[in-house]
Amino acid sequence: MDKLTWNRLSKLALTEKVCLSWGLLFLILSSGSTLIFPQLTRWLIDFVLTPKNYELLLPAVIGIFCAFVLMGVAGSLRYFFFTLSGERMVLNLRRELYKKILAQDISFFDKNRTGDLMSRLSSDCTTLQNTVSVNVSMGLRNLAQVLGGFAFMFYTSWKLSSLMLLMIPPIALSTLFFGKKIRVLSNDFQGSLAQASVVADETISGIRTVKSFVQELNEVNRYNSRLENALDKAQKRVKTIALFMTVAMLVGFGSISFVFWYGGHQVVTGALSIGDLTQFLLYLMIVAIGVGSLGGLWGDIMAGIGASKRVFDIIEQRPFLNDSGKKINDLLGSIEFKNVSFSYPMRTNVDVLKNITFKINPGEMVALVGPSGSGKTTIGSLIPRFYEINSGEILIDGENYKNYNPFSLREYVGLVSQEPVLISSTIKENICYSNSKALDEEVYAAAKAANALEFIESFPEGFNTLVGEKGIQLSGGQKQRIAIARALLKSPKILILDEATSNLDTASESLVQEALNRLMKGRTTLVIAHRLSTIKEANKIFVIDKGEIVQTGTHEELASNHDGLYYHLLQRQFS
Ligand SMILES: Nc1ncnc2c1ncn2[C@@H]1O[C@H](COP(=O)(O)OP(=O)(O)OP(=O)(O)O)[C@@H](O)[C@H]1O
Ligand SMILES: [Mg+2]
Repeated sequence: MDKLTWNRLSKLALTEKVCLSWGLLFLILSSGSTLIFPQLTRWLIDFVLTPKNYELLLPAVIGIFCAFVLMGVAGSLRYFFFTLSGERMVLNLRRELYKKILAQDISFFDKNRTGDLMSRLSSDCTTLQNTVSVNVSMGLRNLAQVLGGFAFMFYTSWKLSSLMLLMIPPIALSTLFFGKKIRVLSNDFQGSLAQASVVADETISGIRTVKSFVQELNEVNRYNSRLENALDKAQKRVKTIALFMTVAMLVGFGSISFVFWYGGHQVVTGALSIGDLTQFLLYLMIVAIGVGSLGGLWGDIMAGIGASKRVFDIIEQRPFLNDSGKKINDLLGSIEFKNVSFSYPMRTNVDVLKNITFKINPGEMVALVGPSGSGKTTIGSLIPRFYEINSGEILIDGENYKNYNPFSLREYVGLVSQEPVLISSTIKENICYSNSKALDEEVYAAAKAANALEFIESFPEGFNTLVGEKGIQLSGGQKQRIAIARALLKSPKILILDEATSNLDTASESLVQEALNRLMKGRTTLVIAHRLSTIKEANKIFVIDKGEIVQTGTHEELASNHDGLYYHLLQRQFS
């Protein structure tokens, strides 16, 4: 284990030091009573049974019984304290991890796949929980018993013990050999199982595509072939484990037979008592069981350390944006881009925006038009500072927006995105997402203004209708209207509408457009639209092509320039 992991884990353990100290106390008690038991057995044999000393029988048995009770109670309490502290530690860790994931910048989510983050949150945390709660305490218990058992074996008969020591190298070597092999095979097996899950995940979340191309059978086969691969790995692993068990059993029983033979000699010659021999055998078994499970635990602990690395790597990752900078009390809403260039962090070699310069005055409505992939959505996502620009400046109310607290800035920016995502809750909660304190009347008014009231009230449950995961139970246009209502309720100073009406039919579009026109009053609005009919009213139109602004002007100005891109876009749309 490297120093970093050690530091992280010990810091984690310190948060539960009281609970862990109790656990440690009971660990010592339970291991101690386990180690006393063979002594009591020897005593019973040598002082009660062999000399037929009947009056001592009851006290001896009571003594042994008490040791058992202590062993049981202390063992349970050890389990209780270690497991409880483990659960608590990992729960806190999981909470922290989730908080940290949500705090990351948007670019973080471009880099890390959802599935990977989910597995850190669920299976890695669970593995870690097992390690800190069960494996570590079992490991310590076994270690104490192995060391203690060894000491008592030597104390009982150093000759027999020294001979037993000869058995250690072959045992250690075979454990090492098999252990490594089993670990590799286990990892292989987990890996191929994960591969199968990836297939299932893709298929189930894309079930509509699968069904529309009638690919069910193919998908089942694809899944099956991954499963067979996993089964293959599992078979190899099971075979190796079975072989290991055979070897371990041969060595173990061989040693016991040897002790019977050699120890038996010593008993016959009087060098050892029957009680000594029995005691020795019991210690040998304690040590053997301890060593055996330590081998298995070692693998588990290693897996836990791996998992902790994956969890801590994210927890310690600091988002670029933090809660510093000037808080905004009031915003007029002017936006100015000065020579802004930008490329996405995951694709730094492609310049998505090149030297973009424009100015939008407070309260103006400006439209961005341009071919698909030209960078319109990208411009929209720079304003709430989802990404950092490579060069140039963005000024909000005449001040470099990096001086503002980013979260405070986002409070003033409303975004209706191209693919609105709803949370799996009710319509009302989705609208209130931007403002949880909104009154019912306000929610109603927002829905009405977004032209969503009609369809909401047509549902039997009205505003309490559940929308399903990601809003799957609503149509595209309905989702868009909910998203508009949500933005309305936030009442932002800067409004970015990214194709907000693209999923609506002409009739509802004009109604929503009306609502939007109302909404845009007194706000700076950036409208991104393919449908040029919706942007005729814009104060200014920026035509963007391949990341550059190629034309600026009003609809009339641009439409009259027959060489310009805008005119071509118009032509294409109305031909
Ligand atoms: N998260 C991302 N990571 C890397 N590249 C991206 C990302 N999002 C968009 N791009 C790339 O940036 C370019 C501009 O994309 P953008 O979404 O801004 O286009 P758009 O003008 O909004 O197009 P559309 O009209 O189709 O919505 C595209 O070439 C796209 O491939
Ligand atoms: Mg777009």
